[in-house]
Amino acid sequence: MDMPIRPRRLRRNKIIRDMVAETRLNIDGMIQPYFVTDGKDVRQEIGGLPGIFRESVDRLVESIGEDMKLGLNRVMLFGVTDRKDPMATSAIDAENPVVLATQQLKKQYGDDLFVSTDVCLCGYTDTGHCGVTIDGELHNDKSVEILAAMALTLARAGCDCVAPSDMMDGRVGTIRHVLDSNGYENCLIMAYTAKYASSYYGPFREAANSAPGKGDRKGYQMDMRNRTEALRELTLDEQEGADIVMVKPALAYLDIIADFQANTDLPIAAYNVSGEYSAVKLMAKEGLVDEKQMVVENLTAITRAGASVILTYHLRDILKHGWDHE
Ligand code: PBG
Ligand code: ZN
Repeated sequence: MDMPIRPRRLRRNKIIRDMVAETRLNIDGMIQPYFVTDGKDVRQEIGGLPGIFRESVDRLVESIGEDMKLGLNRVMLFGVTDRKDPMATSAIDAENPVVLATQQLKKQYGDDLFVSTDVCLCGYTDTGHCGVTIDGELHNDKSVEILAAMALTLARAGCDCVAPSDMMDGRVGTIRHVLDSNGYENCLIMAYTAKYASSYYGPFREAANSAPGKGDRKGYQMDMRNRTEALRELTLDEQEGADIVMVKPALAYLDIIADFQANTDLPIAAYNVSGEYSAVKLMAKEGLVDEKQMVVENLTAITRAGASVILTYHLRDILKHGWDHE
């Protein structure tokens, strides 16, 4: 056949394929999430998230120490507590598990460990909503005030990066202002910029005991039908001083990641959320898929779309089994 152009030539063997690969996984950009809870000597595996645990501060510091031996040095902490009330007072309590864990981790590991913390009220309000409710209505500006106080408490504990995931208007700017006016101008803000109201958070809400008692999160998280609106959130977070902008969830929102890539020069993060992780784990457990192949495919897709930072529950497995190299 007279056919001078044959794309298959570049697929002929692994050396050639590796040579011309357009996307490479960036392990150094991956962050492992952890759940910290009250008490001592607690370590419970989370039902819907096989291989992920809820741990008290003492055990968490040990676990992270073990993970650091694998080369893992970037973590995101989520708090789990029974101490919930209307104004989310334990969110700004200097004794809450995330604050104590941050202090311990930074004391023990210093700059060998990058500690980021989730900033949101849903783990601390009795309603389970991401902001506080006043006169039956979610109060944006009061919530922002509390979120900024929470961020300051975490910065004081030594955390390297705060990650507001609440989706209140104006929170990034207020947090930046409060951090700066207290001398924490080096604390990063990784904003959950385009966070969609998603069914993929199911296993997380069980893990964090943070499901809203009444209603849903559609009054503040983004509507899955909207794409242009994500760019408006991007512009705002850029103007308000975000250092890293995030899209969440990742896999069903690759178009949004690609839009961010085309529209910002800030680093882009994507959150490979709990439901995406559980789906892989459950299919692998049933023998329906090859876990390694699927993890690499999912993370490659997220990278190809434009994310350089990926929050993923798979990171420990990737490092443990060397899945990043064949
Ligand atoms: C808190 C928060 C959630 C997640 C991260 N931060 C849950 C939610 O908004 O309902 C989800 C993470 C995951 O599913 O892995 N606002
Ligand atoms: Zn929340």
